[in-house]
Amino acid sequence: MSKFKVIIAEKMDIRGIELLQNQFDVDVCIGISREELLKRIHDYDALLVRSATQVNDELLEKATKLRIVGRAGNGTDNIDIHAATKKGVIVANTPESNSISACELGIALMMACARDVSVADKDMKAGKWSRNSFEGVELYNKTLGIIGLGRIGSLMATRMKAFGMKIVAYDPYISDERFSRFGVKKAENLDDLLKVSDFITIHTPRTEETIDMISFDEIDKMKDNVILVNVARGKIVNEDALYQGLKGGKIRGAGIDVHAVEPRYESPLYEFDNFIPTPHIGANTSEAQENVGIAIAQQVSNGLNGEIVETA
Ligand code: NAD
Ligand code: MLT
Repeated sequence: MSKFKVIIAEKMDIRGIELLQNQFDVDVCIGISREELLKRIHDYDALLVRSATQVNDELLEKATKLRIVGRAGNGTDNIDIHAATKKGVIVANTPESNSISACELGIALMMACARDVSVADKDMKAGKWSRNSFEGVELYNKTLGIIGLGRIGSLMATRMKAFGMKIVAYDPYISDERFSRFGVKKAENLDDLLKVSDFITIHTPRTEETIDMISFDEIDKMKDNVILVNVARGKIVNEDALYQGLKGGKIRGAGIDVHAVEPRYESPLYEFDNFIPTPHIGANTSEAQENVGIAIAQQVSNGLNGEIVETA
């Protein structure tokens, strides 16, 4: 019997690749163009992606042999799960494997904004010693507003309590018990969180409801000099509103890992020194990539071997 064929379309840890190579015919085609993928997908039983490959009707129609799509990571907003399920294609992801890394990047961005790390770095490398122009803010005793108290939001709560922050969270989909378990004050609505938070960090999925969740009105309602962090998904923060919030000085700093358009090479937001962007690197640590690579390879292997798969 011929072996199942697997195509890996985006960067994945070698340990995961090896796990698959031990059982299947694997084509490692990292960075394959869309055109090429559409041309070749009919030949494969499994497809592995991260967040850049759109697995939609266009691709699924051509994927006549496909049994499983493995999303090496958490968010599945690049995959049309409904369309895949209708075609009998399993969609699997690895929601836990990179949560700590994403959370830690959020903390790094929060602190970089609070202490102007990116401007200080740029100044010194430009030959300046502008020590007196920097006056940061402490995290201690400040209120951190967490939007979405799921896996990453709750990791954030636990960690930032150790910094002496007061934590308030808004998440209409979880029980009161979860708020108390993490020692977090529950905001009954988003406005309540916006009004009291010195720092705001977003940890929701991107859904119809969360797109533009932070826009002009919401930024208006925030405290002056707020620091805003988004390592969740692009478009949850409206970028025009963010521009205005930075321009008008309402927002002290914004640490943003995820963008309305990815990849992104230019943006009006780049005029602000206190806008600190990173190129969607929340999960880019050796630990997370190893965890994710092995976990998704195992899921895909289970799917092809007829074992149980935890579906996304
Ligand atoms: P999760 O599903 O564990 O938690 C999300 C939480 O958001 C849930 O508790 C849910 O109830 C809540 N939520 C949903 N809609 C909401 C709304 N309208 N208002 C308030 N809360 C709402 O997800 P997670 O694993 O914590 O991931 C959070 C986000 O981080 C996702 O968007 C994920 O794709 C993203 N992520 C990004 C990176 C990165 O590289 N930057 C890495 C991992 C995850
Ligand atoms: C995720 O959802 O897991 C992150 O966006 C990171 C990734 O895609 O690798």
